Amino acid sequence: MIPRITNIQEYKSSYEQSLHDPDDFWASIAEGFHWKKKWHRIHSGGFEKGDYKWFEGAKLNISENCLDVHLKSSGDKMAILWEPNNPDDAPRSYTYRELHTEVCKFANVLKQTGISKGDVVCIYLPMIPELVIAMLACARIGAIHSIVFGGFSSASLSGRIQDAACRLLVTADGFYRGDKPVLLKEMADVALRETPSIKNVIICNHASLDIEVIAGRDLFWDQLMMHAETSHTAEVMDAEDPLFILYTSGSTGKPKGVLHTTAGYMVYAGFTFLNVFQFKKNDVFWCTADIGWITGHSYVVYGPLLNGATTILYEGIPSYPDWSRWWKIISKYKVNIFYTAPTAIRSFIAKGNDHLNGADFSSLKVLGSVGEPINEEAWEWYHHFIGEARCPIVDTWWQTETGGILISPLAGITATKPSFATLPLPGIDPVIVDTNGTILNDIVTEGNLCIRRSWPGQARTIYKDHERFMATYFTTYPGMYFTGDGCKRDSDGYFRITGRVDDVIKVSGHRIGTAEVENAINEHPMVVESAVVPVPHDIKGEAIIAFVICVKSVSDHQLLAEEIISTVSRLVGPIAKPERIIVVTGLPKTRSGKIMRRILRKIAEGHTEQIGDISTLLNPEVVDEIKWKTLAEGK
Ligand code: PRX
Repeated sequence: MIPRITNIQEYKSSYEQSLHDPDDFWASIAEGFHWKKKWHRIHSGGFEKGDYKWFEGAKLNISENCLDVHLKSSGDKMAILWEPNNPDDAPRSYTYRELHTEVCKFANVLKQTGISKGDVVCIYLPMIPELVIAMLACARIGAIHSIVFGGFSSASLSGRIQDAACRLLVTADGFYRGDKPVLLKEMADVALRETPSIKNVIICNHASLDIEVIAGRDLFWDQLMMHAETSHTAEVMDAEDPLFILYTSGSTGKPKGVLHTTAGYMVYAGFTFLNVFQFKKNDVFWCTADIGWITGHSYVVYGPLLNGATTILYEGIPSYPDWSRWWKIISKYKVNIFYTAPTAIRSFIAKGNDHLNGADFSSLKVLGSVGEPINEEAWEWYHHFIGEARCPIVDTWWQTETGGILISPLAGITATKPSFATLPLPGIDPVIVDTNGTILNDIVTEGNLCIRRSWPGQARTIYKDHERFMATYFTTYPGMYFTGDGCKRDSDGYFRITGRVDDVIKVSGHRIGTAEVENAINEHPMVVESAVVPVPHDIKGEAIIAFVICVKSVSDHQLLAEEIISTVSRLVGPIAKPERIIVVTGLPKTRSGKIMRRILRKIAEGHTEQIGDISTLLNPEVVDEIKWKTLAEGK
C-alpha cells in the first residue's frame, strides 16, 4: 500500500521528515510498491553533474506494478473506461485482467517485430485504449516509449523520430476531432520519408479511413494481436533504466527529449496521484489531458493504474457534439475526481452556462487544475458551477521535467486559495531566488522558482544531450534546478505561479518555444527574420504574436499572414499558430545582435510606457515603427 497522508498535521510531519531524513521518507513510500529486488541505496548524486539516481540496485517492472499486482484482488475491476469522440459510437472498457492480457499480447507482438530492451518505440496515436496498451507493453519489455501528440505535424513527428532513432512507429489510420478527420497515417507516411531508423509501422484501424499500405514495412495491429500469445513474463528492469522520452519545448532550439527512468518515476507518479487527489479505492478518475503530454502520462495512465484506479479515456474535444459533452461524461461514468486545464474552464465560461443544464455533478468529490496559472474568475466558476461549492480544487503545479506534481494542495486537507498552488509536496524543497540567484528568505516575496534538492520523479537527462540538460536547468542558478517559472509567496507561505520567465509560451496550456515558431516562420520565402512573443488571451491564457521582416514590401498582408500561419501549422502543428502577424522593417536588438523580446512583449501587451530606456539598442529607431504598426496593422 502506498502511504496516504490523511490530515494537515500528517502533511506537516511528513514534510519535515522528508527534508530531515529524505532516505527514510522515500524508503517508506517505496515500500508501497512491488519490487523484484529492493534498492541498496535510496539516493545518490546531485545537481552539480546532474547525476542523481534513485533506488539504485532495485529491480522491477512498472507494467507489473500497474497491472499484475492488481489481478488477484481486483482483476475484474474496470481499469479503463473509453469514451469515443462520437457519442453514437460504442464505448469500450477494459478490466485490469483484460488490460493485462492485451498488454501481454502486444508485448509479444513487439518482441516478434524485433523490438527489445532499450529500443525506442514512437507512438503516434489518438486517445484510444491501444495507446495505453502500447505504452505499457513497451514498459513491459523494457523498450523506451516516445509518445508524440496526435496534433503534431509530420515535420514534428519526423524530428522526434530522428532524434531518438526510433525503431518502430505505432500509429492509426486516423481519428475524428469532433467532425473533422485527422489523417494520422498520411502524416506519418510523410514523416517517415526521412527516418531510416524505422523498420516497421504498426497501424490500428480505428476510423475506417483509406490509407496507403507500404508492403514489408506496414503491419496491422488487429492481425498481429490475433495470433499473439496471451502471457508474457515482464522484463526485469533496473531502477534507473529509461522508461520514456517525452519531447517538450524550451527557450532555444529544437524540442528536448526529456528522459524519465523507471523506479523514481513510478514511485513519484503513484505517490502523488494517491495523495494530491486523495484517491479512494473505488473512485472513478478523469483527467482530460491527452496522453501525448506529461499530464496524460502521469495522471491518465501511470498514476491511476499504479493505484488500481478506474481511469477514463476520452477521445474527443469538449465542444462535440456540443458544449455539454464533458458534463454528460461526468454524469454517465459518475466521475469522482476530475482534472483539467484552466483554458478549458475559460472556454466553458465564454459559452454562457446553458451547457450546464441537466448536468449531474453529484458524484464529484475533487477537482484539479493543471498546465497554466488559473485566474480567479476561472477558479471561482469551477468551484461553484462544477464543484457545487463542495469539492476542493487542487491547483497542481509541475512540468514535463518534474514527472509528477511538485506544488499543490492535498485535496480536502490543505486550505485552498484561488490561483495559489499552495504548498510543496513532501520531498520538494522550493526556493524563490532573485535574478542573481540569491535565495529570498522573506516569507512574502517574489522571484524565480528553483528546487533545491532532487526528488524521485525528476527527469534524468535530455536524451543523448546531457550537456544541454545541464545548461538548461542547472547553470542559471548553480546548485539548484531552475524551473523557468516566476513565482510569488504570500504570508501563509503559499506559492502562486505567475508564468514562464523564459522564452516559452503557454498557449491553451500547451508549451511552445519561441525558437520553434520563429524557425517555422522563417521558412516562408518572404520572411527574412521574425520574433514571436506572448500576449494575454482571455481563453487561451496566452496567444502568440509574430513580428516579421520581409524581403520586400508586402502588398497583400492578409494573404501573407494566412500563408505564414499555415507554414507554422504544417511545420510545428496547429497549436503553435500565431494569432497575429505584424510586418516590420526591423526588430529591436542589443549591440550584440540579440533580439529584445522584452520590448516586443511590452508593445504587444499595449504597455508601451513600460518599455524603459531604448538608447542602448543597436537600432532604437525601429521601436516607434513597431509600436505604430502593432496598433494599426492586422487587428
Ligand atoms: O509554467 C508552468 C506551467 O506549465 C509549465 C510546464 O509545462 P509542461 O511541461 O507542458 O507541463 C504541463 C503540465 C504539468 C510550467 O513551467 N504550469 C503547470 N502547472 C501550472 C502551471 N502554471 C501555473 N499553475 C499551475 N498549476
